Amino acid sequence: MEGVKKNRIFIKTYGCQMNFHDSGLIEDGLLKNGFDKAGSLNDADIVILNTCSVRDHADHKIVSEIGRLKGDKKIVLTGCFAKQIKLKRENGVSVNNADIPVDYCFAPDEILSIPEILAGNFEKNYNGDINDKGFKEEFKATAKDDYQNFNLIEEYFYNKKVDSGFATIKIIEGCNNFCSYCIVPFVRGKERSIPFEIIYNSAKRYADKGVRELLLLGQNVNSYLSPEDDKKDFSYMLESLTKINGIKKIKFLTSHPKDFNDKLIELIASNDKISKNIHLPVQAGSDRVLSAMNRGYIRRDYLNLIEKLRKKCPDAAFSTDIIVGFPTETKEDFNMTLSLIDEAGFDFLFGFKYSPRPFTKAFEFKDDVSLEEKKERLGMVFEKQKKVFSSILNSLRGKRLNVTILAVGKGKNPAEFKNGILFKGEGLNDRTVYIVNKDKYKNLRIGDKGIADITYIENNRLYGEVI
Ligand code: SAH
Ligand code: SF4
Ligand code: F3S
Repeated sequence: MEGVKKNRIFIKTYGCQMNFHDSGLIEDGLLKNGFDKAGSLNDADIVILNTCSVRDHADHKIVSEIGRLKGDKKIVLTGCFAKQIKLKRENGVSVNNADIPVDYCFAPDEILSIPEILAGNFEKNYNGDINDKGFKEEFKATAKDDYQNFNLIEEYFYNKKVDSGFATIKIIEGCNNFCSYCIVPFVRGKERSIPFEIIYNSAKRYADKGVRELLLLGQNVNSYLSPEDDKKDFSYMLESLTKINGIKKIKFLTSHPKDFNDKLIELIASNDKISKNIHLPVQAGSDRVLSAMNRGYIRRDYLNLIEKLRKKCPDAAFSTDIIVGFPTETKEDFNMTLSLIDEAGFDFLFGFKYSPRPFTKAFEFKDDVSLEEKKERLGMVFEKQKKVFSSILNSLRGKRLNVTILAVGKGKNPAEFKNGILFKGEGLNDRTVYIVNKDKYKNLRIGDKGIADITYIENNRLYGEVI
């Protein structure tokens, strides 16, 4: 319609925290280039889908979302699914264009160009050929890689508004590991670390703005190495960030077991500001499957690592990722995964049914574990995990934990209030502790620290009393 501003954007993000981080960069750039934020998807003129492609299910979700987005909205596809489609086209793999009637398609390493192109300020490297590529307008990948466009990344961190005491910083992009099932190295590209100075200065600025907790992100954070100085590795960076005034806690995601060295273990053990809540994806418990997955370690290595970490940090809490039904996984192999869950003692796990992904090595293998079998195995994984977690919690009964009050008052479940006021606290490596008591704790406030005795456990939750 003439005279009506047609530049309201809405970003819908799928997938992992890396994508949520990228969406922040995209939004920032668009707002700076004269776009406005739409209040909802329905109100938007331009919808940006920042997509995931890690499993087949993720792809389906996006295709059906595009199908729902009818009308006169412009659709911008970006993220890992967008890159998968681009790769398919480049490699002559057939893609049903009718399934993906989008206006623009940007790979994850082209996101910083989105604002310029949508604003029409971009003259070069621009392909307007609709029929050829299936997209109405496609930005052509050039030698430029937006994750190496450090100025823009720094500017983003610099200007980012802070509305809580928590901030995420992406420290490394891409992955060189090529686990045989995983599409990430193909859609995210090779590993590129962001220079130490940018991360350090960003963290400092965040701290000045009131951030107390940082989450460092990457597909494999512990292979971080500053491009400008090969002594500045992940341990060096972690330690440097803990010295920033105001920073109280640092978490990181995701670590690869094969790169978790002794220096890092020592640092985690000795530094109070580093979270002892460690996500360490194992994927499988059988050496044969681990080797077919190209994980670079065997079961014993993984369990030794957990043991070493527990020895150095007795209070560490571990979580993991598990894939069931990888090609050729027998019942015996699978039982090794179950027993590993027992032996490692995870607080939490993410479990997935194996899903064949284009371009990966395992895509060539026969997906020979039936869907029913995968479902059954996944159910058994969750069942096992429930028991393991329950015994971890039971071992905490009667213990005294340091807790920080995170929330006070109403929860979803009124039964929680049967004994009075409920406080949600964070104790012993971020495990949630519910403090239920009567008037005694009336004066507790969010952020208060205290010591709690764990008095009972119900429905896999810790309940305690502040002393
Ligand atoms: N970089 C991280 C996370 C990668 S994606 C890591 O190395 O662990 C998150 C999880 O998705 C993986 O840990 C894996 O468990 C799961 N995943 C990846 N590809 C998969 C596939 N093809 N099928 C099922 N699960 C998959
Ligand atoms: Fe994928 Fe493996 Fe890289 Fe993780 S380490 S992103 S699972 S290839
Ligand atoms: Fe998905 Fe890409 Fe993250 S495939 S899990 S959004 S890196």
